[in-house]
Amino acid sequence: MDRRRFIVLGTAGSIAVLTGCGGSGGGASTPPTGTVPPPASPPVSNPPPPTPVSPLTVGQPLTDLTRLANTSTTPNEFVATLVAQRASKAMLPGTSTEFWTYNSRVPGPLIDVFEGDTLRIRLENQLSQETTVHWHGLPVPPAQDGNPIAPGASRIYEFTLPVGSAGTYWYHPHPHEYTAEQVFRGMAGLLIVRSRTDPVPVAIDERLLVISDLRLASDGTIPPNTPMDWQNGREGNYVLVNGQYQPVLTINPGQSQRWRILNATNARYLRLALTGHTLTLIGTDGGLLRSPVPGLDEILLAPAERVEVIVTASLSSQTSAVLQALPYNRGGMGMMGTSSTTISLLTLSYASAATAAVALPNALNSIADLGVPTNTKRLVFSSGMGMGGMGGGMMSFLIDGKSFDPARIDLTSRVNEVEQWTIENRSSMDHPFHLHGTQFQVVSRTGSGGTTNDPYLAWRDTVNVAAFETVVFNVVQHQLGKRMYHCHILEHESQGMMGVLEVVP
Ligand code: C2O
Ligand code: CU
Ligand code: CU
Repeated sequence: MDRRRFIVLGTAGSIAVLTGCGGSGGGASTPPTGTVPPPASPPVSNPPPPTPVSPLTVGQPLTDLTRLANTSTTPNEFVATLVAQRASKAMLPGTSTEFWTYNSRVPGPLIDVFEGDTLRIRLENQLSQETTVHWHGLPVPPAQDGNPIAPGASRIYEFTLPVGSAGTYWYHPHPHEYTAEQVFRGMAGLLIVRSRTDPVPVAIDERLLVISDLRLASDGTIPPNTPMDWQNGREGNYVLVNGQYQPVLTINPGQSQRWRILNATNARYLRLALTGHTLTLIGTDGGLLRSPVPGLDEILLAPAERVEVIVTASLSSQTSAVLQALPYNRGGMGMMGTSSTTISLLTLSYASAATAAVALPNALNSIADLGVPTNTKRLVFSSGMGMGGMGGGMMSFLIDGKSFDPARIDLTSRVNEVEQWTIENRSSMDHPFHLHGTQFQVVSRTGSGGTTNDPYLAWRDTVNVAAFETVVFNVVQHQLGKRMYHCHILEHESQGMMGVLEVVP
């Protein structure tokens, strides 16, 4: 008898669902996957680079993200279910790849809501390990963010999105020590909060680009992290856009498009450039800038960061362009990938019919400066040789010399008080700093070249702190309770480069 049955869902981008695998760990061709227990003695040699595998299909039209359907008919209410489940998809010829997914989609379904909406989202955990949903960047109460859900269990997350929260967010698991694995196996989705008074003209078409990283072995499986992955952060051998490898997006000559881009990779830095074009930055993690920043040749998108850009096709003889990730050296040992190679993410193909240009208003958003901080905090990122890493990792990754302890409160802030945080990176690798529950305003960065003030106000929840750099930002927390802050290289987060902030009255 066939032990596995597949239900193939009908629409583009859908993938087959493995049914009846419950906790059994899948069928004969797919060994059970799970967090790798640390071996008794750590391996010392570098693992070989990922096995070269035959390429995935390239050049398919970019698919729209599947939308999570709202089952509520009440205005300003969004009710839906996310199921954390295994699902299989044919990636390499003759093989089947098992992902861990939300609703069998890679990436997870798009949650598309408005400011003022109340969300009631049920999470059903059909995985064989605990999971949570973290609403990355959203101002939700701590009780409605994360919190472990056991295998087989479910819970409802409920929160209301305040006016002023319009922006590009995402959701992903955040269970203690399993975050890195659950994300690299496929669990991450985009969440857009829209304003009813969005200043960007509707004639500027929107495109959503969720960039993720996939490593496939030649048998089509997603291999576990190596010791080197636990050290440097995992990069795959395919960088996908909306789950597709090097897809094609169409634009008309003269047309402007608004791209919302999410870096949903565990550790890959995306130094984005579009050949033959400049980019106009209009928004960051937490929403629109005060006014557009045109003429950018490239934008660095660290893991977990989002941007909104305007891309305008020329009226000249151009016929296509390539969205690339340019080489970027983020430090780390024995790194191949990002430091030395240019990667093609997507082809922008010109259609024949020209579209009239649409002007972008100069005033986008009235971002108020958070003002003069009345308190300060200082954090130090460091790494060093030491055991205790997961999967035989040789390094420890620390904040203020400490590894994460969920029972410890590392910092305390007063609710509604503006603080200035200084994050100093004393390690030779870049680390993207992320704080839960709020958005902050970067003030300045100090590196070997001196100090530069940030040229414009922007709402962010993640900021890259380059090797030996110091970043200063202003921040305020508006809700009581415990919040995490951590490096968003998920292998570092999962190994303890994380702390707890308690917001008190
Ligand atoms: Cu996107 Cu605490 O993470
Ligand atoms: Cu977060
Ligand atoms: Cu890190």
